[in-house]
Amino acid sequence: TPISALPAVVGSTVAGSTVTIAGWVQALRLQRAMQFIIIRDHSGTVQVTHRRDGGPLEAVLEGLTAESAVRITGQVKANPVVSLGGIELIPETVAVENLAQAPLPIDERTGPEGRQDWRFLDVRRRPVARLVFEVQTTVEQAMREFAFTEGCTEMHTPKLMGTASESGAEVFELGYFGRKAYLAQSPQFYKQMAIAAGVDRVFEIGPVFRAEPSFTSRHTTEFTGVDVELAWIDSVEDVMSFEEQMLAHVLATVAAAHGAAIEEHFKTEVTVPRLPFPRLTMAEALQISGTGSADSGRADLDHAGEQAVGARVLAETGHEFAFVTEYPASVRPFYHLRPDGKPQLTASFDLLWKGLEITTGAQREHRYDVLLAQATEKGLRPEPMADYLNCFRYGCPPHGGFGLGLGRLLMVLLGLDSIRDATFLFRGPNRLTP
Ligand code: 4AD
Repeated sequence: TPISALPAVVGSTVAGSTVTIAGWVQALRLQRAMQFIIIRDHSGTVQVTHRRDGGPLEAVLEGLTAESAVRITGQVKANPVVSLGGIELIPETVAVENLAQAPLPIDERTGPEGRQDWRFLDVRRRPVARLVFEVQTTVEQAMREFAFTEGCTEMHTPKLMGTASESGAEVFELGYFGRKAYLAQSPQFYKQMAIAAGVDRVFEIGPVFRAEPSFTSRHTTEFTGVDVELAWIDSVEDVMSFEEQMLAHVLATVAAAHGAAIEEHFKTEVTVPRLPFPRLTMAEALQISGTGSADSGRADLDHAGEQAVGARVLAETGHEFAFVTEYPASVRPFYHLRPDGKPQLTASFDLLWKGLEITTGAQREHRYDVLLAQATEKGLRPEPMADYLNCFRYGCPPHGGFGLGLGRLLMVLLGLDSIRDATFLFRGPNRLTP
Protein backbone atom coordinates (compact mmCIF):
# COMPACT_ATOMS: atom_id res chain seq x y z
CA THR A 1 0.00 0.00 0.00
CA PRO A 2 1.38 3.43 -0.83
CA ILE A 3 2.28 5.40 2.24
CA SER A 4 1.40 9.00 1.64
CA ALA A 5 -1.16 11.10 -0.18
CA LEU A 6 -3.62 10.39 2.58
CA PRO A 7 -6.89 11.62 1.12
CA ALA A 8 -5.99 10.11 -2.24
CA VAL A 9 -5.15 6.73 -0.76
CA VAL A 10 -7.97 6.56 1.71
CA GLY A 11 -10.55 8.30 -0.45
CA SER A 12 -9.98 6.10 -3.47
CA THR A 13 -10.09 2.92 -1.44
CA VAL A 14 -13.26 0.90 -1.50
CA ALA A 15 -14.99 1.13 1.83
CA GLY A 16 -14.31 -1.94 3.89
CA SER A 17 -10.83 -2.59 2.51
CA THR A 18 -7.68 -2.31 4.57
CA VAL A 19 -4.96 0.33 4.01
CA THR A 20 -1.82 1.52 5.72
CA ILE A 21 -1.28 5.24 6.01
CA ALA A 22 1.68 7.18 7.36
CA GLY A 23 1.77 10.73 8.63
CA TRP A 24 1.79 13.05 11.59
CA VAL A 25 -0.73 13.52 14.35
CA GLN A 26 -2.32 16.86 13.62
CA ALA A 27 -4.92 16.76 16.36
CA LEU A 28 -6.22 14.44 19.05
CA ARG A 29 -9.73 14.46 20.43
CA LEU A 30 -9.84 11.95 23.26
CA GLN A 31 -13.41 11.69 24.44
CA ARG A 32 -15.11 9.46 26.98
CA ALA A 33 -16.30 6.83 24.54
CA MET A 34 -14.32 7.71 21.38
CA GLN A 35 -10.78 8.56 20.36
CA PHE A 36 -10.45 10.75 17.24
CA ILE A 37 -7.05 11.35 15.67
CA ILE A 38 -6.46 13.55 12.67
CA ILE A 39 -3.50 12.35 10.61
CA ARG A 40 -1.83 14.76 8.21
CA ASP A 41 0.63 14.39 5.38
CA HIS A 42 1.52 16.89 2.66
CA SER A 43 -1.59 15.97 0.69
CA GLY A 44 -4.14 16.56 3.40
CA THR A 45 -5.78 15.04 6.45
CA VAL A 46 -7.77 11.96 7.37
CA GLN A 47 -9.71 11.08 10.49
CA VAL A 48 -8.90 7.94 12.45
CA THR A 49 -11.80 6.85 14.67
CA HIS A 50 -11.51 4.39 17.53
CA ARG A 51 -14.21 3.32 19.96
CA ARG A 52 -12.75 2.74 23.39
CA ASP A 53 -12.67 -0.92 24.40
CA GLY A 54 -10.05 -1.03 27.15
CA GLY A 55 -7.65 -2.85 24.79
CA PRO A 56 -3.98 -2.14 23.95
CA LEU A 57 -4.85 0.07 20.94
CA GLU A 58 -6.76 2.43 23.20
CA ALA A 59 -3.64 2.83 25.37
CA VAL A 60 -1.42 3.52 22.36
CA LEU A 61 -3.77 6.19 21.04
CA GLU A 62 -4.12 7.71 24.50
CA GLY A 63 -0.33 8.12 24.70
CA LEU A 64 -0.04 9.98 21.35
CA THR A 65 1.09 13.59 21.15
CA ALA A 66 0.68 16.22 18.44
CA GLU A 67 3.21 15.84 15.58
CA SER A 68 4.15 12.28 16.45
CA ALA A 69 5.06 10.23 13.36
CA VAL A 70 2.77 7.22 13.05
CA ARG A 71 1.89 4.42 10.68
CA ILE A 72 -1.65 3.13 10.95
CA THR A 73 -3.29 0.14 9.34
CA GLY A 74 -7.03 0.03 9.37
CA GLN A 75 -10.31 -0.32 7.54
CA VAL A 76 -11.71 2.45 5.40
CA LYS A 77 -15.26 3.40 6.31
CA ALA A 78 -17.60 5.81 4.61
CA ASN A 79 -19.20 8.10 7.15
CA PRO A 80 -21.07 11.17 5.90
CA VAL A 81 -20.79 12.79 9.33
CA VAL A 82 -17.00 13.05 9.06
CA SER A 83 -16.15 16.52 7.81
CA LEU A 84 -12.87 15.38 6.24
CA GLY A 85 -14.20 13.93 3.01
CA GLY A 86 -16.87 11.71 4.54
CA ILE A 87 -14.39 8.92 5.24
CA GLU A 88 -12.61 7.60 8.29
CA LEU A 89 -10.13 4.92 9.13
CA ILE A 90 -10.95 2.35 11.81
CA PRO A 91 -7.51 1.42 13.16
CA GLU A 92 -6.30 -2.14 13.61
CA THR A 93 -2.61 -1.49 14.33
CA VAL A 94 -0.82 1.74 15.19
CA ALA A 95 2.98 1.96 15.03
CA VAL A 96 4.40 5.02 16.76
CA GLU A 97 7.56 5.64 14.74
CA ASN A 98 8.57 8.73 16.70
CA LEU A 99 6.66 10.11 19.65
CA ALA A 100 6.83 13.92 19.58
CA GLN A 101 7.82 15.66 22.80
CA ALA A 102 5.21 17.93 24.31
CA PRO A 103 4.57 20.77 24.34
CA LEU A 104 5.60 21.79 20.82
CA PRO A 105 8.00 24.73 20.61
CA ILE A 106 5.72 26.59 18.16
CA ASP A 107 2.03 27.27 17.84
CA GLU A 108 -0.29 29.57 15.89
CA ARG A 109 0.91 32.65 17.81
CA THR A 110 4.61 32.11 17.09
CA GLY A 111 6.14 35.10 15.29
CA PRO A 112 8.40 35.09 12.21
CA GLU A 113 11.67 34.59 14.13
CA GLY A 114 10.28 31.67 16.11
CA ARG A 115 9.00 30.14 12.90
CA GLN A 116 12.50 30.44 11.42
CA ASP A 117 13.98 28.81 14.54
CA TRP A 118 11.61 25.87 14.14
CA ARG A 119 11.32 25.97 10.38
CA PHE A 120 10.95 22.19 9.94
CA LEU A 121 7.90 22.19 12.18
CA ASP A 122 6.62 25.38 10.60
CA VAL A 123 6.79 23.90 7.10
CA ARG A 124 5.43 20.53 8.19
CA ARG A 125 2.42 22.05 9.92
CA ARG A 126 1.54 24.33 6.99
CA PRO A 127 1.27 22.32 3.76
CA VAL A 128 1.02 25.65 1.92
CA ALA A 129 4.63 26.35 2.97
CA ARG A 130 5.66 23.11 1.36
CA LEU A 131 3.81 23.98 -1.84
CA VAL A 132 6.40 26.74 -2.35
CA PHE A 133 9.08 24.10 -2.83
CA GLU A 134 6.95 22.04 -5.14
CA VAL A 135 6.42 25.11 -7.31
CA GLN A 136 10.15 25.84 -7.09
CA THR A 137 10.90 22.33 -8.33
CA THR A 138 8.61 22.84 -11.31
CA VAL A 139 10.17 26.24 -12.03
CA GLU A 140 13.68 24.80 -12.06
CA GLN A 141 12.64 21.83 -14.14
CA ALA A 142 10.95 24.10 -16.70
CA MET A 143 14.00 26.37 -16.83
CA ARG A 144 16.28 23.41 -17.49
CA GLU A 145 13.86 22.05 -20.07
CA PHE A 146 13.89 25.35 -21.94
CA ALA A 147 17.64 25.87 -21.59
CA PHE A 148 18.50 22.40 -22.83
CA THR A 149 16.12 22.71 -25.77
CA GLU A 150 17.97 25.92 -26.60
CA GLY A 151 21.31 24.11 -26.59
CA CYS A 152 22.59 25.05 -23.12
CA THR A 153 25.00 22.91 -21.15
CA GLU A 154 24.60 22.91 -17.37
CA MET A 155 27.84 23.89 -15.65
CA HIS A 156 28.78 23.88 -11.98
CA THR A 157 31.24 26.64 -11.22
CA PRO A 158 33.28 26.90 -8.01
CA LYS A 159 31.82 28.69 -5.03
CA LEU A 160 35.22 28.96 -3.33
CA MET A 161 37.40 31.53 -5.01
CA GLY A 162 40.86 33.00 -4.50
CA THR A 163 39.61 36.45 -5.51
CA ALA A 164 36.23 38.15 -5.37
CA SER A 165 33.89 37.37 -8.27
CA GLU A 166 32.35 40.77 -8.85
CA SER A 167 33.36 44.10 -7.39
CA GLY A 168 34.99 42.85 -4.22
CA ALA A 169 32.37 44.61 -2.13
CA GLU A 170 29.77 42.44 -0.39
CA VAL A 171 32.02 39.41 -0.44
CA PHE A 172 32.37 36.85 2.35
CA GLU A 173 35.95 36.12 3.26
CA LEU A 174 37.06 32.90 4.88
CA GLY A 175 40.20 31.15 5.94
CA TYR A 176 41.58 28.62 3.47
CA PHE A 177 44.62 26.65 4.71
CA GLY A 178 46.41 29.74 5.89
CA ARG A 179 45.27 31.91 2.97
CA LYS A 180 42.14 33.91 2.27
CA ALA A 181 39.33 32.61 0.14
CA TYR A 182 36.04 34.17 -0.88
CA LEU A 183 32.55 32.84 -1.45
CA ALA A 184 31.31 33.39 -5.00
CA GLN A 185 29.01 36.41 -5.30
CA SER A 186 27.97 35.16 -8.72
CA PRO A 187 29.12 32.58 -11.29
CA GLN A 188 29.84 35.58 -13.51
CA PHE A 189 33.55 35.12 -14.22
CA TYR A 190 33.37 31.36 -14.48
CA LYS A 191 30.40 31.25 -16.81
CA GLN A 192 32.33 33.59 -19.08
CA MET A 193 35.31 31.25 -18.74
CA ALA A 194 33.04 28.44 -19.90
CA ILE A 195 32.18 30.56 -22.95
CA ALA A 196 35.92 30.93 -23.59
CA ALA A 197 36.15 27.15 -23.17
CA GLY A 198 33.82 26.70 -26.12
CA VAL A 199 30.64 25.90 -24.17
CA ASP A 200 28.46 28.02 -26.42
CA ARG A 201 25.50 28.26 -24.09
CA VAL A 202 25.99 28.01 -20.36
CA PHE A 203 23.31 27.31 -17.76
CA GLU A 204 23.74 27.05 -14.02
CA ILE A 205 21.49 26.92 -10.99
CA GLY A 206 23.56 27.30 -7.86
CA PRO A 207 24.21 29.12 -4.59
CA VAL A 208 25.19 32.78 -4.56
CA PHE A 209 26.63 34.55 -1.51
CA ARG A 210 26.30 38.25 -0.76
CA ALA A 211 27.74 39.90 2.35
CA GLU A 212 25.03 42.54 2.12
CA PRO A 213 23.89 43.90 5.49
CA SER A 214 20.39 44.41 4.04
CA PHE A 215 17.33 43.90 6.18
CA THR A 216 14.71 44.15 3.45
CA SER A 217 12.12 41.54 2.54
CA ARG A 218 13.96 41.07 -0.79
CA HIS A 219 17.53 40.36 0.33
CA THR A 220 19.26 37.30 1.66
CA THR A 221 22.95 36.62 2.18
CA GLU A 222 22.70 33.27 0.41
CA PHE A 223 20.32 32.63 -2.44
CA THR A 224 19.90 30.38 -5.43
CA GLY A 225 20.91 32.03 -8.66
CA VAL A 226 19.91 31.01 -12.16
CA ASP A 227 22.62 32.00 -14.61
CA VAL A 228 22.70 31.90 -18.38
CA GLU A 229 25.50 32.95 -20.72
CA LEU A 230 25.19 32.84 -24.51
CA ALA A 231 28.03 33.03 -27.04
CA TRP A 232 28.00 34.49 -30.54
CA ILE A 233 25.14 36.88 -29.82
CA ASP A 234 24.53 39.85 -32.10
CA SER A 235 23.37 42.12 -29.32
CA VAL A 236 21.97 42.15 -25.79
CA GLU A 237 18.54 41.79 -27.41
CA ASP A 238 19.38 38.09 -27.97
CA VAL A 239 19.80 37.67 -24.21
CA MET A 240 16.51 39.40 -23.37
CA SER A 241 14.71 37.36 -25.99
CA PHE A 242 16.09 34.13 -24.47
CA GLU A 243 15.00 35.16 -21.00
CA GLU A 244 11.47 36.21 -21.89
CA GLN A 245 10.89 32.96 -23.76
CA MET A 246 12.27 31.00 -20.85
CA LEU A 247 9.94 32.77 -18.42
CA ALA A 248 6.92 32.26 -20.67
CA HIS A 249 7.73 28.54 -20.75
CA VAL A 250 8.21 28.48 -16.97
CA LEU A 251 4.89 30.20 -16.30
CA ALA A 252 3.00 28.00 -18.74
CA THR A 253 4.46 24.93 -17.02
CA VAL A 254 3.70 26.23 -13.53
CA ALA A 255 0.16 27.21 -14.52
CA ALA A 256 -0.50 23.72 -15.84
CA ALA A 257 1.03 21.92 -12.86
CA HIS A 258 0.03 24.15 -9.95
CA GLY A 259 -2.25 26.93 -11.25
CA ALA A 260 -5.32 25.79 -9.32
CA ALA A 261 -3.41 25.12 -6.07
CA ILE A 262 -1.66 28.49 -6.29
CA GLU A 263 -4.95 30.26 -6.82
CA GLU A 264 -6.53 28.42 -3.90
CA HIS A 265 -3.70 28.83 -1.39
CA PHE A 266 -1.94 32.02 -2.49
CA LYS A 267 -4.95 33.83 -3.98
CA THR A 268 -2.99 34.71 -7.09
CA GLU A 269 -3.43 33.72 -10.69
CA VAL A 270 -0.56 32.37 -12.78
CA THR A 271 -0.81 33.83 -16.27
CA VAL A 272 1.40 33.19 -19.27
CA PRO A 273 2.86 36.54 -20.36
CA ARG A 274 2.57 37.84 -23.91
CA LEU A 275 5.85 38.25 -25.78
CA PRO A 276 7.81 40.36 -26.23
CA PHE A 277 7.98 42.03 -22.82
CA PRO A 278 7.97 45.83 -22.96
CA ARG A 279 11.42 47.41 -23.07
CA LEU A 280 12.21 50.89 -21.88
CA THR A 281 15.50 52.66 -21.48
CA MET A 282 16.87 53.77 -18.16
CA ALA A 283 16.37 57.39 -19.24
CA GLU A 284 12.66 56.67 -19.79
CA ALA A 285 12.45 54.77 -16.53
CA LEU A 286 13.96 57.67 -14.61
CA GLN A 287 11.42 60.05 -16.11
CA ILE A 288 8.63 57.79 -14.87
CA SER A 289 10.12 57.29 -11.42
CA GLY A 290 11.05 60.94 -11.10
CA THR A 291 14.08 59.96 -9.06
CA GLY A 292 16.83 61.45 -11.17
CA SER A 293 18.10 62.09 -14.62
CA ALA A 294 20.27 59.89 -16.76
CA ASP A 295 22.40 62.95 -17.50
CA SER A 296 23.73 62.91 -13.97
CA GLY A 297 25.69 59.82 -15.02
CA ARG A 298 25.13 58.16 -11.65
CA ALA A 299 21.45 57.57 -12.04
CA ASP A 300 20.12 54.24 -10.82
CA LEU A 301 16.65 53.03 -10.00
CA ASP A 302 15.94 52.41 -6.33
CA HIS A 303 13.23 50.02 -5.24
CA ALA A 304 10.56 52.73 -5.16
CA GLY A 305 11.60 53.73 -8.67
CA GLU A 306 11.31 50.13 -9.85
CA GLN A 307 7.82 49.92 -8.39
CA ALA A 308 6.80 53.16 -10.11
CA VAL A 309 8.13 51.90 -13.45
CA GLY A 310 6.41 48.54 -13.02
CA ALA A 311 3.10 50.23 -12.22
CA ARG A 312 3.32 52.59 -15.21
CA VAL A 313 4.19 49.80 -17.64
CA LEU A 314 1.34 47.70 -16.30
CA ALA A 315 -1.12 50.58 -16.64
CA GLU A 316 -0.02 51.44 -20.19
CA THR A 317 0.58 48.00 -21.67
CA GLY A 318 -1.03 45.44 -19.37
CA HIS A 319 2.37 43.76 -18.95
CA GLU A 320 3.66 42.70 -15.53
CA PHE A 321 7.20 42.39 -16.88
CA ALA A 322 9.43 45.22 -18.03
CA PHE A 323 13.00 45.25 -19.29
CA VAL A 324 14.86 48.41 -18.33
CA THR A 325 17.82 48.84 -20.68
CA GLU A 326 20.85 51.09 -21.20
CA TYR A 327 21.96 51.50 -17.61
CA PRO A 328 24.68 54.12 -17.17
CA ALA A 329 28.19 52.69 -17.14
CA SER A 330 28.73 54.36 -13.76
CA VAL A 331 26.29 52.02 -12.00
CA ARG A 332 27.26 48.86 -13.85
CA PRO A 333 30.26 46.56 -13.51
CA PHE A 334 33.34 47.05 -15.68
CA TYR A 335 32.62 43.97 -17.80
CA HIS A 336 29.39 45.29 -19.31
CA LEU A 337 29.75 46.22 -22.97
CA ARG A 338 29.22 49.87 -23.83
CA PRO A 339 27.26 50.41 -27.03
CA ASP A 340 29.00 51.97 -30.02
CA GLY A 341 28.84 55.75 -29.79
CA LYS A 342 27.32 55.65 -26.27
CA PRO A 343 30.31 55.29 -23.94
CA GLN A 344 28.26 56.53 -20.95
CA LEU A 345 25.82 53.64 -21.27
CA THR A 346 25.92 49.84 -21.15
CA ALA A 347 24.28 47.17 -23.28
CA SER A 348 22.63 45.87 -20.18
CA PHE A 349 19.22 45.40 -18.62
CA ASP A 350 17.30 44.64 -15.48
CA LEU A 351 14.09 42.70 -15.66
CA LEU A 352 11.31 43.90 -13.37
CA TRP A 353 8.35 41.71 -12.52
CA LYS A 354 5.53 43.56 -10.78
CA GLY A 355 8.05 46.24 -9.92
CA LEU A 356 10.64 43.93 -8.37
CA GLU A 357 14.06 43.39 -9.95
CA ILE A 358 14.43 39.70 -10.64
CA THR A 359 17.32 39.78 -13.13
CA THR A 360 20.39 41.66 -14.20
CA GLY A 361 21.86 40.92 -17.61
CA ALA A 362 24.15 42.35 -20.23
CA GLN A 363 26.26 41.85 -23.26
CA ARG A 364 29.82 41.47 -22.00
CA GLU A 365 32.86 43.31 -23.23
CA HIS A 366 34.82 40.57 -25.04
CA ARG A 367 37.67 42.70 -26.43
CA TYR A 368 40.66 42.42 -24.14
CA ASP A 369 41.98 45.97 -24.51
CA VAL A 370 38.61 47.59 -24.01
CA LEU A 371 37.84 45.36 -21.02
CA LEU A 372 41.17 46.20 -19.42
CA ALA A 373 40.58 49.92 -19.94
CA GLN A 374 37.10 49.68 -18.37
CA ALA A 375 38.46 47.78 -15.37
CA THR A 376 41.19 50.36 -14.87
CA GLU A 377 38.67 53.17 -15.19
CA LYS A 378 36.68 51.55 -12.33
CA GLY A 379 39.82 51.53 -10.19
CA LEU A 380 40.27 47.75 -10.37
CA ARG A 381 43.73 46.22 -10.47
CA PRO A 382 44.22 43.68 -13.26
CA GLU A 383 46.58 41.38 -11.30
CA PRO A 384 43.99 39.66 -9.06
CA MET A 385 41.79 39.15 -12.13
CA ALA A 386 44.56 37.75 -14.33
CA ASP A 387 42.86 34.35 -14.79
CA TYR A 388 39.62 36.05 -15.82
CA LEU A 389 41.32 38.51 -18.14
CA ASN A 390 43.25 35.68 -19.81
CA CYS A 391 39.92 34.44 -21.20
CA PHE A 392 39.88 37.48 -23.45
CA ARG A 393 43.41 37.13 -24.81
CA TYR A 394 43.04 34.03 -26.95
CA GLY A 395 39.86 34.28 -28.97
CA CYS A 396 36.75 35.10 -26.98
CA PRO A 397 33.44 35.23 -28.86
CA PRO A 398 30.93 38.01 -28.29
CA HIS A 399 28.62 36.90 -25.52
CA GLY A 400 26.11 37.96 -22.92
CA GLY A 401 23.89 36.55 -20.25
CA PHE A 402 21.89 37.15 -17.15
CA GLY A 403 21.52 36.19 -13.52
CA LEU A 404 18.10 35.64 -12.00
CA GLY A 405 17.28 35.29 -8.30
CA LEU A 406 15.11 32.21 -7.81
CA GLY A 407 13.75 33.44 -4.45
CA ARG A 408 12.74 36.76 -5.99
CA LEU A 409 10.95 34.97 -8.81
CA LEU A 410 9.01 32.78 -6.36
CA MET A 411 8.13 35.80 -4.24
CA VAL A 412 6.42 37.50 -7.14
CA LEU A 413 4.95 34.32 -8.60
CA LEU A 414 3.24 33.39 -5.32
CA GLY A 415 2.66 36.91 -4.00
CA LEU A 416 4.81 36.24 -0.91
CA ASP A 417 5.54 39.17 1.41
CA SER A 418 9.10 38.11 2.05
CA ILE A 419 11.87 36.15 0.38
CA ARG A 420 12.06 34.22 3.67
CA ASP A 421 8.89 32.41 2.73
CA ALA A 422 10.44 31.47 -0.61
CA THR A 423 13.51 30.02 1.10
CA PHE A 424 13.63 26.81 3.10
CA LEU A 425 16.29 28.01 5.57
CA PHE A 426 16.79 31.75 5.34
CA ARG A 427 20.21 33.37 5.73
CA GLY A 428 20.49 37.02 6.69
CA PRO A 429 22.88 39.28 8.58
CA ASN A 430 21.25 38.14 11.83
CA ARG A 431 20.50 34.57 10.92
CA LEU A 432 22.90 31.68 10.49
CA THR A 433 20.75 29.02 12.11
CA PRO A 434 19.28 26.49 11.97
O1 4AD B 1 21.87 41.89 -10.04
P1 4AD B 1 22.87 40.87 -9.63
O2 4AD B 1 23.80 41.25 -8.55
O3 4AD B 1 23.66 40.48 -10.95
C1 4AD B 1 24.71 39.59 -11.05
O4 4AD B 1 25.08 38.84 -10.17
C2 4AD B 1 25.29 39.50 -12.42
N1 4AD B 1 26.58 38.81 -12.38
C3 4AD B 1 24.31 38.75 -13.28
C4 4AD B 1 24.62 38.79 -14.71
O5 4AD B 1 24.66 37.76 -15.36
N2 4AD B 1 24.77 39.95 -15.25
O6 4AD B 1 22.12 39.54 -9.20
C5 4AD B 1 21.24 38.88 -10.09
C6 4AD B 1 19.89 38.68 -9.46
C7 4AD B 1 19.15 39.94 -9.07
O7 4AD B 1 18.44 40.48 -10.15
C8 4AD B 1 18.21 39.44 -8.00
O8 4AD B 1 17.10 38.77 -8.56
C9 4AD B 1 19.06 38.40 -7.30
O9 4AD B 1 20.05 37.99 -8.21
N3 4AD B 1 19.70 38.96 -6.10
C10 4AD B 1 19.32 38.67 -4.83
N4 4AD B 1 18.36 37.89 -4.34
C11 4AD B 1 18.24 37.80 -3.00
N5 4AD B 1 19.05 38.45 -2.13
C12 4AD B 1 20.05 39.24 -2.56
N6 4AD B 1 20.86 39.83 -1.70
C13 4AD B 1 20.22 39.39 -3.98
N7 4AD B 1 21.08 40.07 -4.77
C14 4AD B 1 20.76 39.79 -6.03
